Amino acid sequence: MKILLTGGAGFIGSHTAVELVNEGYEPIIIDDFRNSKSFVIENIEKIIGRKVVFHCTDIGDQEKISSIIKQEKPVGIIHFAADKAVNESVKNPLKYYHNNIVNLIKLLSVIDKHNIDSFIFSSSCTVYGSPSFIPVNEKTPIQPAFSPYGYTKQVGEKILTDFFKTKQQTSLTMLRYFNPIGAHPSSLIGELPLGVPSNLVPYITQTAIGKRKELTIFGNDYNTADGTCIRDYIHVVDLARAHVLSLKNKHSYNNIYNVGVGNGKSVLEVVHSFEEINNLKVNYQFGERRDGDVPEIYADNHLIKTELKWEPIFSLKEALHHAWAWERELKSKYKIG
Ligand SMILES: NC(=O)c1ccc[n+]([C@@H]2O[C@H](COP(=O)([O-])OP(=O)(O)OC[C@H]3O[C@@H](n4cnc5c(N)ncnc54)[C@H](O)[C@@H]3O)[C@@H](O)[C@H]2O)c1
Repeated sequence: MKILLTGGAGFIGSHTAVELVNEGYEPIIIDDFRNSKSFVIENIEKIIGRKVVFHCTDIGDQEKISSIIKQEKPVGIIHFAADKAVNESVKNPLKYYHNNIVNLIKLLSVIDKHNIDSFIFSSSCTVYGSPSFIPVNEKTPIQPAFSPYGYTKQVGEKILTDFFKTKQQTSLTMLRYFNPIGAHPSSLIGELPLGVPSNLVPYITQTAIGKRKELTIFGNDYNTADGTCIRDYIHVVDLARAHVLSLKNKHSYNNIYNVGVGNGKSVLEVVHSFEEINNLKVNYQFGERRDGDVPEIYADNHLIKTELKWEPIFSLKEALHHAWAWERELKSKYKIG
């Protein structure tokens, strides 16, 4: 069964492509490499041991997307393609409204003319804004978004809900990711920030390998035990597996699931776990709070565990170990950043 992956050369998309093949699906990847590199496709092929179908296209190009869908006839679509840096979205909101909302609408206009069994959307815990209680479950009232990025995910969910209400033959799943980290255990694919990383773990690994002088921890005066922000860190392979299980979930038309491990770790705890598991020191300093960051959030993951029988397999330490192995692989083989 063919599954179209928009943004399938990216961090989460590439790992999902591998997990799809492991479960007998055939991924069809669309990406224009605006935030990834072509070697990712080659490395997916090394992991799966065969060629993967790939189209280098902007998902905003309706003519091309339409012809790909006509040609490939996918039964499902997983929509990863988007811009994702919370802080950048504060500085450049139009970039985010264009890629994450306008291009989503363009994609749906194309899909409107085709029959698709499943559509999975990369949503985010940023839709909860700064929640009034934690852990957040899927019924936790949505608060105003903290950033334009978070707003694009809130609006994206609304657009999709309204659109697929008219198409009951399609199962819509919106996965609210918490903080994906780690890399494939083969060290062939992983997170690939182009420029200064906006996510914590690649910032840690790039500092540890000497690419950055020091890690800046944004804020140590939050109302948390050690003053740094608290997040729910999930291994990217576990997150990828949630997409495969969502495709198999046929009993409901409109599904929303939190995908997180269900407990919060502070930024400092992650830094210290990284140091411990990899037996090294990370040079860090505290900086100002960063626009768009909420102090604390982690998932109530009861729903996905019950309905999709999803369980995280990897620990935080394993994820940090894989992230470090990937960073060393990047240094030895590729010139990025
Ligand atoms: N990584 C995270 O921390 C995180 C957390 C929550 C939600 N998400 C969401 O998950 C999705 C995937 O995130 P990721 O971490 O894999 O990001 P990523 O940047 O690594 O992957 C996105 C991929 O989409 C491609 N892309 C973007 N816009 C495109 C366009 N218009 N046409 C064609 N290709 C395009 C990029 O080149 C990239 O390869 C995004 O929607 C993101 O908002 C990510």
